[in-house]
Amino acid sequence: MSVCAVKAITVTSMCGIIGYVGPRVAHAVVVEGLRRMEYRGYDSAGAAVITPDGISVRKKAGKIGNLDALLASDPLPETGIGIGHTRWATHGGPTDTNAHPHVSADGRIALIHNGIIENFATLRAELRAKGVEFSSETDTEVAAQLLGDVVAGGADLADAMRAVCLRLEGAFTLVAMDATDPGRLVAARRNSPLVVGVGEGETFVASDVAAFIEFTRHAIELGQDQVVDVTATSITVTDFFGNPAESHPFEVTWDLSAAEKAGFDWFMRKEIFEQPRAVADTLLGRFTPEGALTLDELRIPEAELRSVDKIIIVACGTAYYAGMVAKYAIEHWTRIACEVEIASEFRYRDPIISGSTLVVTISQSGETADTLMAIRHAREQKAKVIAICNTNGATIPRESDAVIYTHAGPEIGVASTKGFLTQVAACYLLGLYLAQVRGTMYGDEIAAVMSELASTPDKIQQVLESLDQITDLAARFIDTKSVLFLGRHVGYPVALEGALKLKELAYLHAEGFPAGELKHGPIALVEEGTPIFVVVPPQGRDQLHDKVVSNIQEVRARGALTIVLAEEGDDEVTPYADILFRLPKVSTLLQPLVATVPLQMFACDLATLKGFDVDQPRNLAKSVTVE
Ligand code: F6R
Repeated sequence: MSVCAVKAITVTSMCGIIGYVGPRVAHAVVVEGLRRMEYRGYDSAGAAVITPDGISVRKKAGKIGNLDALLASDPLPETGIGIGHTRWATHGGPTDTNAHPHVSADGRIALIHNGIIENFATLRAELRAKGVEFSSETDTEVAAQLLGDVVAGGADLADAMRAVCLRLEGAFTLVAMDATDPGRLVAARRNSPLVVGVGEGETFVASDVAAFIEFTRHAIELGQDQVVDVTATSITVTDFFGNPAESHPFEVTWDLSAAEKAGFDWFMRKEIFEQPRAVADTLLGRFTPEGALTLDELRIPEAELRSVDKIIIVACGTAYYAGMVAKYAIEHWTRIACEVEIASEFRYRDPIISGSTLVVTISQSGETADTLMAIRHAREQKAKVIAICNTNGATIPRESDAVIYTHAGPEIGVASTKGFLTQVAACYLLGLYLAQVRGTMYGDEIAAVMSELASTPDKIQQVLESLDQITDLAARFIDTKSVLFLGRHVGYPVALEGALKLKELAYLHAEGFPAGELKHGPIALVEEGTPIFVVVPPQGRDQLHDKVVSNIQEVRARGALTIVLAEEGDDEVTPYADILFRLPKVSTLLQPLVATVPLQMFACDLATLKGFDVDQPRNLAKSVTVE
């Protein structure tokens, strides 16, 4: 199976692909582009260029460092055209042979692929019967050989690509070049993203604008089932039948510095520190003086939002936890019942959805297959879908009725940080907007929440300035085997997020619990010295605060070492905190925006101390495009 294989109905973008044609040294541009897309997969990397003697390929299993080493000992020739690929394996081993690019048997065509070709077995048998020999087990090679076969029959590369796409079943994005036509790349897109970078006298195709942001901010997003034929100075887009097709030009709003570490050891740490700005940008200009929220693309009339009788938030992982936080605020402000569901569960349990259900999906990448499948299912049932997304033009916003973009800028560290905070902020904007449309809050109440939201970037900054304490703490827990996190109300999803960060980065057993639930079983896990983080709600909200203080005492009585996150001036918790981290004063619903930050940093610091790769934790990829 393909290295980037997925089921037919899923989209696939777990690999990073890039092509370049222009006056620069192609393999240098390609490998640098792969480096910026390595977050998409790091099981193997490869590049190919066209030389006067034909196609030259270098590829290696493992991270790009391995390809760098190969290129250092066996450099690629300097040419003006090349393609490259970085892979996240789903099926089949991450071997040198299975790495992309793949080359047709006659050596004429090189091709990179992102997706699964479902009917690859039939096509492979057909090609074998014609005498074509295969050198890998991948379905990708079938596309390379098929393209080679059609081109060998006399077809032009773009015509051949269209003919091949019509024969492929499944999901795929392909980029190919022909050794006999060394100034041209042809790419095809079905489902997973493909953008064209338009430079001066040079052209790029890539999965992500980060791959070419150093050279141009002018980009064109391709639509579904399109083929693009590019040279250094021309770009022609058609559908799979050769008809001219519309594509969507856009300007990238961020620059190279956003895609670089800027002196930080990890992208993740940089992204943690970017959170005040990311939240501020997400809130910026959203409300008109009349109080109306500006959605980026809205195709849901207010009358329909007034008739909504149920909200279902659907997302995965960290985005799901952002949805859990949002539920508290949305129900409180709108009085509409709000469910939150993990996307992969939602799709397959026959959820009750109608035309008056509003489905809100949350996705940083905008490409998560589970979430996308949930959207398709919801829309089939006539529900309206609003996407909260960080990636302009990604598949999820394209397939939704409306979108609110989080303006976090590119999130490159595999573990989501600024993605989470901005998702919470965007959900709150949506909640306030619904409350306004439906009249469940007074204008001055909405303005008061907005004003407090607007002050959170400063509060997050305050937290960032006190993180040294967390770094010291991480050093203390380097040999710890298990960590628990407790919270109530919105503090509960914060606890879950703290545990997830620790699992994915420090490879530790970590679990988050509702603080009140512990005594129903999990408290049996607590033994002498078990570290337990507790998120304490602000004082004075019902009995929430006092209940959590009691929960801290319960675990402490059983030997736990308590690391308490509590607001400034909360002296009631002091006697029960072995370690006390102070949070700035905010209201209960906004506390996740400040309380999550130290937990992110704890995981980052602990993983760093343990010598793990924080930006590319094992087994993970940034865009999860398999179901
Ligand atoms: C955890 C993490 C993942 C993602 C999840 C959803 O740090 O990053 O749990 O949150 O895979 O991804 P998106 O938001 O791209 O849909």
